[in-house]
Amino acid sequence: MKLLKNLFKFDVLDSTQDKAFELLRNFDEVIVIANRMEKGRGRYGNSWISEPGGLYMSIGFKNKTIDFSKKLLIITPICILDVLKFYQINAKIKIPNDIYYENKKICGILIEMKENEVVLGIGLNVNQSNFPQNLLATSMFLIKNKFFNIDEIALKIYENLKVLINYNFDFIISQYNSFISKEFIEFEYKGKIYKGRILEVNKNFELILDIGSFDLFYVRNLRSIT
Ligand code: BTN
Repeated sequence: MKLLKNLFKFDVLDSTQDKAFELLRNFDEVIVIANRMEKGRGRYGNSWISEPGGLYMSIGFKNKTIDFSKKLLIITPICILDVLKFYQINAKIKIPNDIYYENKKICGILIEMKENEVVLGIGLNVNQSNFPQNLLATSMFLIKNKFFNIDEIALKIYENLKVLINYNFDFIISQYNSFISKEFIEFEYKGKIYKGRILEVNKNFELILDIGSFDLFYVRNLRSIT
């Protein structure tokens, strides 16, 4: 792998997220990659199945603001879609930042912040050939029927991030909107259940949903229940 500054590779870790936070004590920015994890974390307290063959990468940044982590939330899925496109895989963003190929998840993103440290975690299914039955998941291998170089993919994602982080917000929101899946979702908001079709995300990162009768719904921190 091309030499990246502060890249730490491990065979096995509990979670690359924890290792990145630990290493940030001594570095301003770190990249941590593991071949597998024993306590991989997903969002909402879920665990992330981390068998060999996947990309498990955490990128840690020191001295950052909430705005920086919000920007990461938007640009990371764009970067990943871009890299997947390079390998001729056309995926979609399932809001806010899951990546799906057809109706199966191919990548998950986790952003954690502690004081002024931000760690971005990316779990991309690359060369795995099977998943537990209850998971609607797929991998690049299952889509293309060939193996991919995980280091090369990690490098492409990282390099993309470094470029996109400097782009202005209007541009990245328009990119994000062109990649989101404009699907019908069922969601809970202030205790009520609604159904609506996703239209777009606005500059404040509020999701605009068409819930019929011309009503537009502006939602932050929405959690789909479908
Ligand atoms: C999700 O969709 O729930 C997010 C999954 C994030 C998984 C990645 S893999 C690398 C990093 N280390 C972890 O323990 N989790 C994230």
